[in-house]
Amino acid sequence: MDLFISSGAPLAGTIQPGGKITLPGDKSLSHRAALFAALANGQSCIENFLVAGVTQALLDALTALGVSWVLTGTTLVVNGQGPSGLHSPAHPINCGNSATTLRLLAGALAAAGVPAELDGSIGLRGRPMQRIVEPLQKMGVTITASPQGTAPLRLSGRQAGQRLHAIEYSLPVASAQVKSCLLLAALAADGPTILNEPAPSRDHTERMLRSMGVDVVTRRGTSYETRLNPPEPWVLYPLLIELPADISAAAFLIVAALITPGSDITIKGVGLNPDRTGLLDALESMGGNVQVTLLSERNGEPVGDVRVRYSRLVGTQISGPLVVRMIDEFPALAVAAIVAEGITTVSDAVELRTKESDRISALCLEFRKLGVQATETTDGFIIRGGLPVMGGVVQGHGDHRLAMALVVAGLAAQTSITVEGVEIIHESFPDFVETMQALGATLTIKE
Ligand code: S3P
Repeated sequence: MDLFISSGAPLAGTIQPGGKITLPGDKSLSHRAALFAALANGQSCIENFLVAGVTQALLDALTALGVSWVLTGTTLVVNGQGPSGLHSPAHPINCGNSATTLRLLAGALAAAGVPAELDGSIGLRGRPMQRIVEPLQKMGVTITASPQGTAPLRLSGRQAGQRLHAIEYSLPVASAQVKSCLLLAALAADGPTILNEPAPSRDHTERMLRSMGVDVVTRRGTSYETRLNPPEPWVLYPLLIELPADISAAAFLIVAALITPGSDITIKGVGLNPDRTGLLDALESMGGNVQVTLLSERNGEPVGDVRVRYSRLVGTQISGPLVVRMIDEFPALAVAAIVAEGITTVSDAVELRTKESDRISALCLEFRKLGVQATETTDGFIIRGGLPVMGGVVQGHGDHRLAMALVVAGLAAQTSITVEGVEIIHESFPDFVETMQALGATLTIKE
């Protein structure tokens, strides 16, 4: 499926959960809420759940494990029966394109001691899994990966009553998926598990588990430590939660409004966890008019509104812990960079090569097709912005965020551009095209 973009008309409107123009519920929180609810003791109700490709993979996995759930619109009800409610699946579990599903599920299955095989799409099979296999093995989990350290992963069961080993472990890379996998396994350990990260990754798991009654302590200073004391006996309170809109989905609308003259949009009810708001800081350093209003906290997660107005942007430099705070936002950031006057440099971001595509090389390759001066470096990229963006035909590389970024880049192009393979956007933001159209962009889908 292709998408044809041919407008630079101002974007305007208010986007709010349940409103006429709406944003999907947060992807990271949707995964966690559904999975943790399956491990809880009782019925959970999750509102504004993200209904999209990646979360369908998780819901299908829960079904395969014998967990019952009902999805009505965007309200998900999960009947959790604790770890004994998970049963060994008859077939390998297909996690589709979702690394979050695979990595978090591995931790949950390790805690429950349920044998299973976890697999996924060709894309998912290319993503690194040794980063969870090795520490899980240290915890006493019998788990293997392919010789390349990738999916499929095979987990064996455990004797009833046998605990996993509590470990103290330093993650080689800052990763919320790895940390979350290990924290889930740590729920069944024989003592407190301590994890250290080189930089703080998103702490949604810690906040959500805490709201379910688990003793998780985060220490941040010169080091970034998370300590979990396993509940004894296993008690996880069910969730009653309304998820905020996904800031990583909002990112594309925010950049679209910033680069399109005359635009003024407001996005309400967005998740503003400080570990996820790096893009807003980066855009501010580029001169972006982004107004953030923190309004409330839901299940320990800050939520608020973001107003964005068209701004003249300048290049910036992004490195260090800021990279982790905006790890999913580089495709969106890169679009701001092509419009900004001067040079934008991204470094310390080699993790971008392990995402749904190699985001460093795929981004640079596709942007160069539009005449953009984009240079790949080992751990990032350099973009010289403020030069004319040409029309042309570009490719989404099976990466939902790259595809959305290319669509937004089309708003800045001098003539129309066509993005091939936009169906992948369904993975995280099924209504992206409709939302952009409702804000005033001219986009045409070609089947
Ligand atoms: C996620 C963590 C990040 C992010 C992904 C979602 C999560 O991955 O890129 O989209 O929900 O924990 P890493 O932990 O691999 O950096």
